[in-house]
Amino acid sequence: MLVSARSFAEYRAMFALTDRDLDQRVLDCPAGAASFVAEAGRRGIDAVAVDREYAVHREELGLLVERETGFKRELLVQETAGFTPSWYADTDDLVRQWTANSRLFRADIAARPERYVAGALPGLPFPDASFDLVLSSHLVFSYGNRLGEEFHRAALLELARVARREVRLFPLMVYDTGERYHGLDRLREELAGAGIGSRVERVAYEFQPGDGEMLVLSCAGYRPPPAAAPRTTAVDPVRWRHREAALPTACG
Ligand SMILES: C[S@@+](CC[C@H](N)C(=O)[O-])C[C@H]1O[C@@H](n2cnc3c(N)ncnc32)[C@H](O)[C@@H]1O
Repeated sequence: MLVSARSFAEYRAMFALTDRDLDQRVLDCPAGAASFVAEAGRRGIDAVAVDREYAVHREELGLLVERETGFKRELLVQETAGFTPSWYADTDDLVRQWTANSRLFRADIAARPERYVAGALPGLPFPDASFDLVLSSHLVFSYGNRLGEEFHRAALLELARVARREVRLFPLMVYDTGERYHGLDRLREELAGAGIGSRVERVAYEFQPGDGEMLVLSCAGYRPPPAAAPRTTAVDPVRWRHREAALPTACG
């Protein structure tokens, strides 16, 4: 798993956020080293970040992501072979932007640590309906090749539990197959049965070609069961390859 560092402007495009949307209490889950909350804070927006990785790394996460992004430049070139993510001019531009974003993240988590909460889907450390709007980018559906449908079901219900109005998720495409998550329609039907309406909307942002759509969950009518359903854990650990490369070999 990769910890990425997208910007406020990317979030705005990815989730088709209006000024009115941002006039609410917002949760970014999982936030990674994104600068959305940092930049939102500068604009007076009430936004909170949650990520599993904050239990392990906090202030140093920005620096780790910066080093990892630079280290993985060649890998990113291969992963994006055949396409240029439309947001970036080229891979070097992606590295430059993620580096700048992770620096903003790093400064903000040091200055406003209370805005960065350690927590893991599908068991977030917030009471029901704690946020008006919950944004979730590049974990659910995106890692659909590694995280099973049970995790997806539990994660979607958990995101809906902490949202008073809406959850928006991007992308709906599994990153390494380039196809829409196979269980999407089935999960949407199950959510509808639980009182959570959903719709797919096109957005003016693509990371991979053809992935420019988000899922919007309408949560106002959802009443989560009082006792949480058994929580499944899905672990796809972050690999810090730049650190592995720095380890001495057995011979040396
Ligand atoms: C690809 S990053 C996306 C970060 C950010 N949304 C962005 O677009 O830049 C995926 C993030 O998911 C986090 N993550 C993985 N599994 C998680 C879980 N079960 N609960 C919360 N965060 C998780 C990772 O630590 C990582 O920061």
